[in-house]
Formats: sequence, C-alpha cells, structure tokens
Amino acid sequence: YSRAFSTSAALKTVIKNVTVIGGGLMGSGIAQVAAATGHNVTMVDETDEILSRSTAAIERSLGRIAKKKFADSEKAQSSYVSDAMSRIQISINPVAAAKKSDLVIEAIVENLEIKQKFFTTMDAAAPSHTIFASNTSSLSIGEIASATKRRDRFGGLHFFNPVPMMKLVEVVKTPETSTDTFQQLVNFGKALGKTTVECKDTPGFIVNRLLVPYMMEAVRMLERGDATAKDIDTAMKLGAGHPMGPFELADYVGLDTTRFIINGWAAKFPDNPLSNPVSCLTN
Ligand code: 3HC
Repeated sequence: YSRAFSTSAALKTVIKNVTVIGGGLMGSGIAQVAAATGHNVTMVDETDEILSRSTAAIERSLGRIAKKKFADSEKAQSSYVSDAMSRIQISINPVAAAKKSDLVIEAIVENLEIKQKFFTTMDAAAPSHTIFASNTSSLSIGEIASATKRRDRFGGLHFFNPVPMMKLVEVVKTPETSTDTFQQLVNFGKALGKTTVECKDTPGFIVNRLLVPYMMEAVRMLERGDATAKDIDTAMKLGAGHPMGPFELADYVGLDTTRFIINGWAAKFPDNPLSNPVSCLTN
C-alpha cells in the first residue's frame, strides 16, 4: 500500500475490499449487495451469534434473488448464492478488519456519540488510503467525520431498506469531503448496480428529509382521529401509488430507527415544525 499514501495514488484506488460495520437490516443488506457485485466483504458485529443470524438472512435474500434471476437453472442459482457467500467474511474485530479495507461503511445505531467514538478508533487503525462512510439516516456526516483526522476521506453512503431491492444510494458530500473521495464513493455506488444521487450534508439528505415528515404527519393524522392507520395506508397505496403505506413503512424501517430520527431532529431543530415529535414515538 505504500503508493496509496500519496494523494495521486489515492485517486487510482479502486474499492475492492469493503468492511461493513453492523450486521443489522442495513449492514447485512449492504454486505450482501457488495459481495454479490464482486467485492470482498468483511461484516463486523459484536457477537458471532448476531453475525450468524446476519449471514443466514443474507443467504435467504440471495436465494430469493437467484430464483428470479436464474429462473431456469438451479445450478446457476446455487452458484450465484455460494459465490456471493464466499466473498463475505465475518468478524467481531473492527480494527483488524479495517486494516485491510479500501472502504469502511458504518451502519450501527443512530447515535452521534457512539458513531464518533467508533470512527475515532477506526481512524487510528485504518490505512491512510481507506475511505470512511456512514449510512446514517439523519445525523450530520460532517459531525461524525469531525471525530477523525480524515475528514477529506469521509462521506455518506445512504442505502434504503431492503438494500438488495432498492435501487438508490445517496452519496453525501460534506464541505471537507475531497473530490476524489466523493468520486470513489459514487463509483462504488454504481459498481453495486445502484443509481446514485449527490446530496449535501443536510438533515435527512433527500429521501428522509421528505419521507420522515410524511410518516410523522400520518401519525399525527391518526392521533387526531382523522382516519384509521389501515385507511391511511390504503389511501397512500391506492391513491398515491406507494408500495407501502406510511405505517407499514414505519414498521418496515423499524420503529426504533424512526424514533431515533424524529427525536434527534426534535432536539436539534426545535423550531422546525417538520421535526415536531409525535407522542406515540417519544417514549
Ligand atoms: N431480499 C431479496 N428479495 C426481496 C427482498 C429481500 N429482502 N424483499 C423483496 N424481495 C423481492 C423478491 O423477489 C420478492 O419476491 P419473492 O417473495 O417471490 O421472493 C419480490 O421482491 C416481491 O416482494 P414482496 O412480494 O414481498 O412485496 P412487494 O412487491 O411489495 O415488494 C418491497 C417489497 C420491495 C419492499 C416494496 O414493498 C417496497 O418497495 N416498499 C417500500 C420500501 C421503501 O420505501 N424503502 C425505503 C425506506 S426508507 C429507508 O430505508 C431509509 C432509512 O434511512 C430509514
């Protein structure tokens, strides 16, 4: 890696070895898609037990995709699954994983202090060419990056649940993200087969800035007694063509994550009515 320490060499780095931190819904989805598109992936979480659940979920999801992709060949289905699985390693040691990574993608709990602490540790361990990215839904990438000395090699890669099916990745640029880093993140998103959009580091980027207030407005509508949850969901599916209604979607994203997002925004932007907390998610 000696070449990679200079800026010009960093330009040429092609992301091949990826560490995904967090084996939850998002982390395992990101690990799956990265492996299925030929990247070497290390998926990290706190225990082997969590990681074996994550790998089982990945294997199931790959199987569903393989059935559609290679409908007429069981052999092709099983080699699609086993090829992707063979590119995924699991680890409970993020520092060791970071040492051989071109890119570290963090998908852990939506808490600024925990993310900052994590990245400070990773910053000391990872090679200098390694790019850091967070999959945060709602926190500032710049604030997370401020816990490291590689703010130029730090950006956002925001994926959507279910990661294997959703075609979008938001690529987030802070004022300090270098042009090379941003371009590499965009290239990586495309290498995963996703469409990328460029976002500034603003709360919720594009999708969640629109989607979360919409879900919260649905909850307020329910709390006022204007309509039932079932009717609100039906209305948005049949009247606006959404694949899921707002309540179904909040469940699908996870009420824990939805709550972290809205409570975080309510505390940080108390004067913005879009981030008003809703009573059924505040406790
Ligand atoms: N893995 C692999 N394949 C999957 C899958 C998964 N996890 N989920 C769905 N599929 C595929 C399968 O091919 C499945 O067919 P199968 O059951 O025969 O295997 C096919 O999709 C159809 O799935 P379903 O019949 O279960 O249901 P749908 O047709 O409704 O599709 C959906 C499921 C793609 C999840 C669709 O309902 C949808 O797009 N929902 C909205 C999701 C959304 O808005 N996500 C964004 C949330 S916001 C977010 O994530 C940001 C965060 O920061 C909060």
